[in-house]
Amino acid sequence: MYTSQITGIGHYVPENVVTNNDLASMMETTDEWIQERTGIQERRWVDPKTDDMPSTMGTKAALKAIENAGLTPEDIDFIIFATLSPDYYFPGPGVQVQELLGIREVGALDVRNQCSGFVYGLSVADQFVKTGMYKHVLVIGSEYHSGGLDKTTRGRGITVIFGDGAGAVVLSRSENPKKGILSTHLHSEGKHARELALISPATCHWVDEIIEKNDPEDTSYYPYMNGNYVFKHAVTRFEEVITEALNTNGLSASDISLLVPHQANLRISQFIQRKMRLSDNQVYNNIMRYGNTTAASIPIAMSEAWMEGKIKEGDLVCLAAFGSGFTWASALIRW
Ligand code: UT7
Repeated sequence: MYTSQITGIGHYVPENVVTNNDLASMMETTDEWIQERTGIQERRWVDPKTDDMPSTMGTKAALKAIENAGLTPEDIDFIIFATLSPDYYFPGPGVQVQELLGIREVGALDVRNQCSGFVYGLSVADQFVKTGMYKHVLVIGSEYHSGGLDKTTRGRGITVIFGDGAGAVVLSRSENPKKGILSTHLHSEGKHARELALISPATCHWVDEIIEKNDPEDTSYYPYMNGNYVFKHAVTRFEEVITEALNTNGLSASDISLLVPHQANLRISQFIQRKMRLSDNQVYNNIMRYGNTTAASIPIAMSEAWMEGKIKEGDLVCLAAFGSGFTWASALIRW
């Protein structure tokens, strides 16, 4: 029986820093409001003059992860790419990574689970590695939100939150039963699908319909979020799915070395920390600098924590996510 271990990790964020004051020059908002409600001080937004795309940012993060693992792209047996902002409507960016990195003609799977996308992708990778089917699986989360946000006051409730970037890991086969991914837990509740969604253009609202109506009030091609509603569900589901992971493995919150939650809102992370009685050293947050990068947020945070020496061999690392769908998920890892 094999186990699966993260052997390499990396991230990439665009250079262009957008502060809260920069946003205040585009719409009616303030640095105070954004910091108080979300904890965010600045985020990275792609400069459209660069070649940054979900695929290219994901590729840069992936290459770092592959190098950190001491591997080359030829060693990769499968690609999993999580994003809600693909370069194209189809195909998804997994195949672009195959080309950009010159990986063999291996399978490339695109995951559409938004903020939970990276943990969903990691869970899929875990199954392929543990069964012995693949030895090294690349899991990428990458987002380019800034191009598709409503940058007027109308969109301020959502636009100030989101940032761009990418993170990646290599999940590799191991025969050490004490290390690696201990368990993953995936959930969904589709009745909330429209509470956090980007409705069109899509099959239920095609482009020709949008053009035909030519309605200046139509905002269906911008993301919509019922913020308070999402917030209330998030805090409950985060705690539930972390507890589920701990219970499955006979562990308790005090055993967690580092919780890396999806960076949705600093207030959500702080709420979970208080409810689970975790110390500041047990929770990693970087939303202050990057905003909410959806599928990229966990691998970016995990990569930074690892680079800062906050994840060490033998540590118990817990990943947890919640978002559009609703979907939520966790993974417990012995590093
Ligand atoms: O990552 C996926 C999961 N996502 C989440 O978990 C996000 C969950 N939700 C949230 O993080 C928060 O609900 C938000 C940060 C989105 C909003 O914070 P809030 O404390 O729930 O504010 P609110 O939506 O209740 O809005 C309060 C007020 C409103 O004004 P009125 O109606 O009280 O006059 C808004 O119009 O704040 C106003 N407002 C703003 N004011 C300045 C909304 N956005 C802004 C803004 N700047 N950017």
